[in-house]
Amino acid sequence: MPAPRDRDHAPPGDARRAEAAPVKDPDAAPEVDDAVPDAAAARPAAPDDGGAHFGEQGGRLSYASYLRLPDLLAQQVTVAEPVAHDERLFITVHQVYELWFAQCLHELGAARDAMLAGDAATSRRLLVRVHVVERVLLGTVEVLETMTPQDFLAFRNALAPASGFQSVQYRELEFLSGARDPTYLTRMAQASPAERAALQRRLDEPSLWEAFLALLSARGLPVEADDDRRASLLAVARERADLWDLAEALLEHDALSARWRSRHVDMVERQIGTRSGTGGSSGAPYLRSRLALRYFPELWDLRSEL
Ligand code: HEM
Repeated sequence: MPAPRDRDHAPPGDARRAEAAPVKDPDAAPEVDDAVPDAAAARPAAPDDGGAHFGEQGGRLSYASYLRLPDLLAQQVTVAEPVAHDERLFITVHQVYELWFAQCLHELGAARDAMLAGDAATSRRLLVRVHVVERVLLGTVEVLETMTPQDFLAFRNALAPASGFQSVQYRELEFLSGARDPTYLTRMAQASPAERAALQRRLDEPSLWEAFLALLSARGLPVEADDDRRASLLAVARERADLWDLAEALLEHDALSARWRSRHVDMVERQIGTRSGTGGSSGAPYLRSRLALRYFPELWDLRSEL
């Protein structure tokens, strides 16, 4: 007798399990061709769904209810009077950014925790996912650049003093990555108490860089003194392949973030020239002053010593 198939053991109503490929029991006798006589017999036993077909079980969830689409699609609310056609695009693009920022925080937090737990491979895998999202975010700039400066001016005044400068998640990403400038806590004057607390938490918790150093230390590489750390990073580059791959994944995150800052300021100059920002900064000059920012400067310095 072949071992019972996994789907035969699916709990009632578990559509995903019922549709899953059979899992072979390694101790089971080899399967023979007549183990499943016909397709009808192979179909998962209908649980208490009254004979419903796939996708109908229980009627608990639909595409729209699972994804909360009524709420999500009600959030693109324009404010300009008279109505400006491109304002909706502007809002959608920024909302898409915030969704991806939230996802990146989720992944980078897990990548950091994996390093703290000594798991370099999982951390690298999550960082590679973030790289793909970051490339999407670079491409998203192009969508907004289909808007002309004249079209932007048609609604720009209506959104002031709102500005991307006030994006708490963007600043959380910087803090988590290791660029921890606490002055942003006071400079982001509009932040609510909850947002301020989120930023403070990011400042208090280990950054990606601190987690990477903790991993090096756990693998016997000293990181406390500057000289020791430099020697340890060289050792990583020369003889610790898994840690080097992880270091490269961190560097790629750094490089892609820098590329976005550069791409963003190009877009800003294209849209508003040398005007000051709606957030009250000098605009492009402020943004250009941030282009040299590195999350992991020691990984960049290492290049000249290899
Ligand atoms: C028409 C398009 C855009 C223009 C003209 C623009 C303009 C600006 C300006 C002038 C600043 C400096 C702060 C200020 O005084 O307001 C800024 C900062 C910022 N913007 Fe944009 N922006 C645009 C699109 C975007 C998009 C799509 C995002 C995505 C979330 C974004 C995110 C940010 C962030 C995170 C900052 C803070 C950067 C930092 O502090 O280093 N911006 N933007």
